[in-house]
Amino acid sequence: MSTLMISSSTHSYQVVIKKGLRTQLKDHLDKKYAKVLVITDSKVGPLYLDEVINAFPEDVEVSHSIVSAGEASKSMEQYSNLLNACITNQLDRNSLIIGLGGGMVGDLSGFVASTYLRGVDFLQMPTSILAHDSSVGGKVAINHKQGKNLIGCFYSPIQVIYDTETLQTLPVEEIRSGYGEVVKHALLSDMSWCEQLLVEDLSALSYQQLEDHLTLGIQVKAEVVEQDEKEHGVRRHLNLGHTLAHAMEAELGYGEITHGEAVAIGIWFAMKISEDSFKVSLPTKSYVQWLIKNEYPIDTLLKVNPEKLVNRMRWDKKTIDNNIHFVLLEAVGSPTVEKISETKLHQYLNDFVEEVSQIDKRN
Ligand SMILES: NC(=O)c1ccc[n+]([C@@H]2O[C@H](COP(=O)([O-])OP(=O)(O)OC[C@H]3O[C@@H](n4cnc5c(N)ncnc54)[C@H](O)[C@@H]3O)[C@@H](O)[C@H]2O)c1
Ligand SMILES: [Zn+2]
Repeated sequence: MSTLMISSSTHSYQVVIKKGLRTQLKDHLDKKYAKVLVITDSKVGPLYLDEVINAFPEDVEVSHSIVSAGEASKSMEQYSNLLNACITNQLDRNSLIIGLGGGMVGDLSGFVASTYLRGVDFLQMPTSILAHDSSVGGKVAINHKQGKNLIGCFYSPIQVIYDTETLQTLPVEEIRSGYGEVVKHALLSDMSWCEQLLVEDLSALSYQQLEDHLTLGIQVKAEVVEQDEKEHGVRRHLNLGHTLAHAMEAELGYGEITHGEAVAIGIWFAMKISEDSFKVSLPTKSYVQWLIKNEYPIDTLLKVNPEKLVNRMRWDKKTIDNNIHFVLLEAVGSPTVEKISETKLHQYLNDFVEEVSQIDKRN
């Protein structure tokens, strides 16, 4: 079992990671609640909801709400439905809301918890690998049709209970997606962890490896957000790989590629720009071999028009004065934010597309 303590601007909270925790909530919850609302989605609910409900003592009133799986549920409509559920179930200031699911459920249920009665206790039970990233750091939000996460706030959970056993039912593309963010955390922090990770076959990980990788990833994220919760400085480093990823996701239409798979491709691009800009050598070769071995959909890049990608990157929130701000690596563990001109970016992207298409032909 791994236990971490994370400090937020409002309180400190514990993250517990272990196989089988969903059935042992009684032993791990810090406080006793009379009423609990478990929010989950239509894929995770049928798998784990009953076990979570049954893990509470009989005198606790546990209700639940199930939203459709998928990003579309991070909506005003579901938010409103869930507030209705809080009211119907008569949740009060001493009640608990649990988000049982991936990052979508975490963001949505956290936003409900942050606003219902001006804030009730919120417990994250992440069930995806990607949610190691979303369940700490306190950002909760829903989407607007004009963009992702436009409506939200900072609201940290009172605890994160991460049962690695639930990860066994994750579809393969969601494992890859989660590991896109895990490898990002490794590159932002530590060469020896990177070297270990870049030989892993993601279809053959043990529970101990999952626990170790999630713990290390959460530690990296926690160190960054503890220094800069509201993203004025170092928190921007967590956007490594995200400038290209967001452009690809938007251009392809959400749902065509998972977020973390797009991030994994974006990281490769950022590594190439870093090597050229700083004349350094990064573990790019082993990174690319790892992407190929684990069947990351690198050919997806070839489906989008590079001009359109540059346009999207230009409108990314990190663009100032026609210079696009990119998170680059001076070395593994030494991220920095650099300005790149649009002309240079065009050049880099064309070279990158060429390299990806050569690799794609060989595989
Ligand atoms: N708050 C933050 O700091 C932060 C950071 C990163 C991402 N996010 C948000 O997280 C979301 C993405 O998270 P995600 O990738 O976990 O997406 P998700 O919650 O949509 O889960 C992906 C898919 O996997 C399914 N799933 C989840 N756990 C499962 C399990 N154990 N077994 C079988 N299926 C399972 C879900 O039903 C869904 O279909 C996005 O909304 C993103 O904006 C938030
Ligand atoms: Zn991300």
